[in-house]
Amino acid sequence: MNFKALSLSACLVSTMAASGVAHAEATGVDFINVFEKLAGKQPGVRKGHAKGVCAVGEFTPTDAGGRYSSSALFNGEKSTANIRFSMAGGNPAANETERSPRGVGVKFTMADGSVHYIAGLTTPVFPGKSPEVFLGLLETLVPDEQGKVDFSQVAQYRQEHPSTLPQFNWLQANNPPSSYASVNYHGIHAFYFVDDQGKKTKFKWRLVPTEGQKLLTKAQMKQLPDTFLADKLKEELSQGPAHFELQAVIGQADDVTNNPSQAWPEDREVITLGTLSITSSGDNSCDLINFDPNALAQGVESSDDRILRLRSTAYAISFGKRLSGQ
Ligand code: HEM
Repeated sequence: MNFKALSLSACLVSTMAASGVAHAEATGVDFINVFEKLAGKQPGVRKGHAKGVCAVGEFTPTDAGGRYSSSALFNGEKSTANIRFSMAGGNPAANETERSPRGVGVKFTMADGSVHYIAGLTTPVFPGKSPEVFLGLLETLVPDEQGKVDFSQVAQYRQEHPSTLPQFNWLQANNPPSSYASVNYHGIHAFYFVDDQGKKTKFKWRLVPTEGQKLLTKAQMKQLPDTFLADKLKEELSQGPAHFELQAVIGQADDVTNNPSQAWPEDREVITLGTLSITSSGDNSCDLINFDPNALAQGVESSDDRILRLRSTAYAISFGKRLSGQ
């Protein structure tokens, strides 16, 4: 297994094959196949974000979300939360000091039994404007028969597909987190709130730790072992819960909804939807969960982002494979 390629694969994304031939339309199967080429066959584990840890907690809403959405998530009652924090990529032994995205998945179960899922990354943007650009980027990272990745080809691909660059540049400029509980997570895609009258409001969600971000220093990135995040989280939670604010950035008319490689302007209105409190971690409570980002509660809808829509297919294939030991 080529770990360098794997770690890079986590940061990258694009539309054309290494040959320079554009994919007609990328499918979920194409992604599962390329993940297996990058990480090798990893029976029984997630094909993306293979390394991670389960946690549990609860969500306490403010009254702000109820002004935009009819969802029971925002009607004042608490929801239970099943969480999984993870390292990007299909490598179950990913190095936790590397410059790659960390991920979070949350399943909210509301008082009325309905559910809502989110899954986001520590990067505010994704490495590609379309599934095809992302797939092409991953393909440039597949090692040759000698196990070598042609990094000049990767760099060339990035230059030819500028929508792969904002995430790459962000990862160079921001060190990885010192804890899964001390970093911002971004929904990246646009979604819509829908209110009782059917009025839609576009938004992007993010989770912000109430005690602020804590990132690794360059020295810590060199010194720390490959695996420390799950133990660190358990130790932190033994002192008390960790809290995140769930926020929604409200989009304006000209903010694009179909390009996750592009952030909206910084000055957009931000509302606080509630507090996600993490109370314990380290059990197997998330093993059977598929954090499908399109499995949304009534009152929230997906946008026209093709990457967002495609994620459902890829996650379902991965879910089926891992549950059947493939
Ligand atoms: C075409 C684009 C993408 C593909 C093909 C893809 C594919 C996958 C797959 C196959 C899994 C494993 C699912 C499972 O077995 O349950 C996964 C997990 C995950 N992905 Fe993606 N993904 C894509 C884009 C994204 C984006 C844009 C985000 C963030 C906004 C994201 C965040 C995550 C997270 C947090 C997990 C871990 C969920 C968990 O802990 O179970 N992915 N991805």
